[in-house]
Amino acid sequence: MAKLGLNVDHVATVRQARGGVEPDPVIAAAIGELAGAEGITIHLREDRRHIQDRDLEIMRQTVKTKLNLEMAATQEMVRIALRIKPEQVTLVPEKRLELTTEGGLDVILNLKTITDSVKRLHDGGISVSLFVDPNQEQIKAANKTGADYIEIHTGAYAEAFNTADMGHELEKIDTAIKLAAKIGLGINAGHGLNYVNIKPIASLGGIEEYNIGHSIISRAVLVGLDRAVKDMVELIKYS
Ligand code: PXP
Repeated sequence: MAKLGLNVDHVATVRQARGGVEPDPVIAAAIGELAGAEGITIHLREDRRHIQDRDLEIMRQTVKTKLNLEMAATQEMVRIALRIKPEQVTLVPEKRLELTTEGGLDVILNLKTITDSVKRLHDGGISVSLFVDPNQEQIKAANKTGADYIEIHTGAYAEAFNTADMGHELEKIDTAIKLAAKIGLGINAGHGLNYVNIKPIASLGGIEEYNIGHSIISRAVLVGLDRAVKDMVELIKYS
């Protein structure tokens, strides 16, 4: 059955808005796990705009399910990952001025850098996932790097939800799932997923873990994190 990986970056964003100590993403991660999340995802960005090194250090000790560290494939980040040893690293592209991760990795263009990072992370005993668009050539390249998983970028599908393009975007994800399964890659998915658009994706089957942040933290502001996580776990498991 599919699992929820709760992304707590937005909790850190609220904290950083005042430069203080609250709300603490470490506590959000603990509440999320108690409510049924089976993984915690954080993105340590090069500019440290939300998650801080301190959060990663503490969560390595407190997260009991699975810590998934999203990061760029840079020397600095690989060094940090090898020291902290999250269960999984998800490599993502990173641009300084973007509001959030904008597109999937160009694995074809960056094959050597990504393959080197995958190897170093594997040598440290860390499982590696690559965040890619639902594009067949990128998925085949992901397989060449030796990565264990892909995380299918669901942003275009989320944007197209309830428009004429939705069926086409959902079909691309379905094809991506089938190809990745055929070549032996594990399959995660995420970006832009919410309580409404998750249902058609969850019905496709084949996805092991959904990494979701914005919609859950937004709902949590209104109804509390425990309920927001439980509501999403229910949709992921039983859609
Ligand atoms: N997966 C990846 C690789 C991401 O970069 C993000 C955004 O940080 C997410 C999932 C979660 O996206 P959202 O916050 O839209 O749920």
